[in-house]
Amino acid sequence: MTEPLSPDAEAPPPLPWLEELPPRQIVGELDRYIVGQAAAKKAIAIAIRNRWRRGQAPDAIRNEITPSNIILIGPTGVGKTEIARRLARLAGAPFVKVEATKFTEVGYVGRDVEAMIRDLVDMAIGLVRTEREEEVLPQAEAKVTERLLDLLLPESDADPDDAELKGRREASREKLRAMLLDGKLDDKEVEIEVIPPNYPNPDAMRAPEGMDAPESSFADWLMDMLPKKPKRRLAKIPDARRILEDEELRALVDMDDTVNEALDRVENHGIVFIDEIDKIAGEKGPGAGPDVSRAGVQRDLLPIVEGSTVQTRYGYVRTDHILFVAAGAFHNTKPSDLIPELQGRFPIRVELEPLTEADFVRILTEPENALTKQYIALVGAEGCTLEFSAESINEMARIAWLANDRMENIGARRLHTVMSTLLEDTLFDLPDGGKTTSLLIDGATVRERLASVVQDDDLRKYIL
Ligand SMILES: Nc1ncnc2c1ncn2[C@@H]1O[C@H](COP(=O)(O)OP(=O)(O)OP(=O)(O)O)[C@@H](O)[C@H]1O
Ligand SMILES: [Mg+2]
Repeated sequence: MTEPLSPDAEAPPPLPWLEELPPRQIVGELDRYIVGQAAAKKAIAIAIRNRWRRGQAPDAIRNEITPSNIILIGPTGVGKTEIARRLARLAGAPFVKVEATKFTEVGYVGRDVEAMIRDLVDMAIGLVRTEREEEVLPQAEAKVTERLLDLLLPESDADPDDAELKGRREASREKLRAMLLDGKLDDKEVEIEVIPPNYPNPDAMRAPEGMDAPESSFADWLMDMLPKKPKRRLAKIPDARRILEDEELRALVDMDDTVNEALDRVENHGIVFIDEIDKIAGEKGPGAGPDVSRAGVQRDLLPIVEGSTVQTRYGYVRTDHILFVAAGAFHNTKPSDLIPELQGRFPIRVELEPLTEADFVRILTEPENALTKQYIALVGAEGCTLEFSAESINEMARIAWLANDRMENIGARRLHTVMSTLLEDTLFDLPDGGKTTSLLIDGATVRERLASVVQDDDLRKYIL
């Protein structure tokens, strides 16, 4: 295991890591996207900050501090998976989300649960590589400019001692440089040698979720090991720049060092989100046919959550200090239906609250990715400004809540249906040749449009 960078090593750039923020600020970051659910946010903030705290602790105790693994429990559509999605973007740490049900599906029998750790490593390599590449980008760009100039103005065989000729060449080169940087040569073509990548691309390696293709990974791995023959090809300047830049970046970023750092980050900062964990609790579910024994899946998971060594193509990874956050609705099962050893490794249980009508109002408007903002952007793309009156928002929230209450409670997912029903015709009719340049959705519009699609007479009465 590699040690964290010592303070006198070349200063790493400040990382926008969630774990470097005090817990209150971590909650603040989550608040930008997720309404309510204070208890869940708090537990997650503490668990994440504890990673950083552990990193500061004296060696002797550091390895004894185990992660505060969490189970999020709550009804459908209240933000469990959404919290995970946001964490993934904000964490700055290696993060993967897996669905526990994937391990029990027929056809994926015995999907190797260690695959999640391998995915985590692939992700970490991509993360570290991107960071390193960003650091050396200016250097790579400068090199590429010189290489492009060499290609545009090849050395001539004229007498190298001819001072006048040399002066003229330098003047032309500077003129070309100005034009090149101005984009004035973007239509010109140059001939370049393209060397296929000599280290694996983690994105290309990742099998579609739920599918492991060890044979094909092995083939890829072999391909990576074989020496590559460069190919010559003509490319326009912007294209050539991209290709050469890639090459320079690869030469400037040390792969061994990247791998070491990535493995260290996985071991000490990695987060695995196990969604739908309720679906593997209990021995057999209703109508369970040929599916894999749930307890069997739990037993497979146990060593990874408890801490074990997993072999990846980049080296061994210890999972002792990886943070696991699990989530499930637990409609038909309880956390206590999980095998005791697994329960023991998830000491923190947090219940997420059912969402209220008032929460719906906030969800529609407040998050940075709020649905109203999304639709305003979609309609705006057609040159039409879309506005929602305050009453229309209240009406959408009321009707969504009503529909959940009377039909099936699908939580905030109902808002997606309400919103897409409400705006379906608008989105179909636009663009209309500039006739509609602004649209105001008010309470009456919401009632009218939604009532017309409701089958249930009783519900329609409540809407209107
Ligand atoms: N608290 C919330 N704040 C903002 N948006 C929310 C919240 N809860 C749910 N949403 C919205 O509802 C959608 C569904 O929520 P999410 O995927 O988190 O459900 P879930 O709790 O994982 O439910 P399930 O148990 O069915 O998987 C999200 O994509 C998000 O748009
Ligand atoms: Mg979910």
